[in-house]
Amino acid sequence: MSDETKILLEEKEIPQAWYNIQADLPNPLSPPLNPVTKQPAGPADLANIFPMDLIAQEMSRERWIDIPGEVLDIYRLWRPTPVFRAKRLEKALQTPAQIYYKYEGVSPAGSHKPNTAIAQAYYNKKSGINKLTTETGAGQWGSALSLACRFFDMECTVFMVRVSYDQKPYRRSFMEVYGAKVFPSPSPETASGRKILAEHPDSSGSLGIAISEAVEIAMQRPDTNYSLGSVLNHVILHQTVIGLEAKAQMAKAGVYPDVVIGCHGGGTNFGGIAFPFLQDKFNGRKVRALAVEPLACPTLTKGKFLYDLGDVAGFTPLMEMYTLGHNFMPPGIHAGGLRYHGASPLVSRLLHDGLIEAQAYKQTDVFKSAVLFARNEGILPAPESAHAIHGAVTEALEAREAGEKRVILFNLSGHGYFDLTAYDSYLGNRLDDVEYAPEDLEASLRDIGSVG
Ligand SMILES: Cc1ncc(COP(=O)(O)O)c(C=O)c1O
Repeated sequence: MSDETKILLEEKEIPQAWYNIQADLPNPLSPPLNPVTKQPAGPADLANIFPMDLIAQEMSRERWIDIPGEVLDIYRLWRPTPVFRAKRLEKALQTPAQIYYKYEGVSPAGSHKPNTAIAQAYYNKKSGINKLTTETGAGQWGSALSLACRFFDMECTVFMVRVSYDQKPYRRSFMEVYGAKVFPSPSPETASGRKILAEHPDSSGSLGIAISEAVEIAMQRPDTNYSLGSVLNHVILHQTVIGLEAKAQMAKAGVYPDVVIGCHGGGTNFGGIAFPFLQDKFNGRKVRALAVEPLACPTLTKGKFLYDLGDVAGFTPLMEMYTLGHNFMPPGIHAGGLRYHGASPLVSRLLHDGLIEAQAYKQTDVFKSAVLFARNEGILPAPESAHAIHGAVTEALEAREAGEKRVILFNLSGHGYFDLTAYDSYLGNRLDDVEYAPEDLEASLRDIGSVG
């Protein structure tokens, strides 16, 4: 076992292919359904908002999918990303566990999101599309797609969930530096936005609403496609560069993780780090994978596994996933990127089949671990990523109780330098723990009956 603090790879060690877990799933995914006919959605159902290459990846069962040279050229700006051994955090926790983290916040946009934004912009450009629309919760995905569109000389329109737009004005400026147009969602720009504003003029928005707005525009304009930063199979596929690199780095350090942890919003940074390790699990190796979500939006731990829509207006296909109901309005917690009612069908299937685990935590506990991490390791984590930190801290404390040398690997999916309003609230004791009310969940789950 090496004693290095930073485990680095060389540029030539960037993976050349993404890992497609669909090739190895013990139980294949149920097909997405057309929201109107309820029949399996084929490529034609998706072709007016996505390019064919991405639709093919969404459905592919090939184990390895080559990363195009143009995408690799851009990945080289920040990849391979470092793995750190959190020695100072281990010491602070007085744990015999070894804690490692993969740091994706070194990307220009500050998170793991450019791994897929660059790939999606590339395939869209290749298919002749010049404009992309999207939603953003925390602002990390909007920043990543704005960057990717700039690199491929495309226009980018971002619908930013109202509560984050107000909490993080500089995220908007950041996207505008790259040339994107940013609207708070719900907005008067679209019919879906206008409908919500008429009913709820003070709506704080949700990812489900912002997705409806972005998809609506892409459906209406032939030169415009829609790009999603989470949930879908091809998005997780692109994120597997994280886990593939991490596997090589852990091997270099001479250790193998007992548990791999990621925060969970739609499932892609978790899937990105965990899926390459799950390939080993399918081949008989012992490894746990743990997805961590907020108690205020507990999709995996309290949601139902069934067919639901990905958005509020009903434009997206029905997908079989864990869901709180597409009308579920999560409270305005600070981890905006984790306020999604649904989950990746791949992560959902694995959880349903007992191959991965999920935990939900309160935001004050999560921020406590985030501050402990920052004070020991120096990096200020994104509030989303802080959920993974809290998961790792909890595992390390359990290992201390059990006197176990558990090896923990987590994904630090982004930095929190635009999230200081949230830290300010935490340090000023103004952060509430909004736990979800069971009546709200029952009501939004009832609505699924009419679509599922
Ligand atoms: C830093 C960060 N981590 C995680 C997420 C959650 O997304 P996913 O579950 O797709 O990784 C987000 C989403 O905005 C994010 O900004």
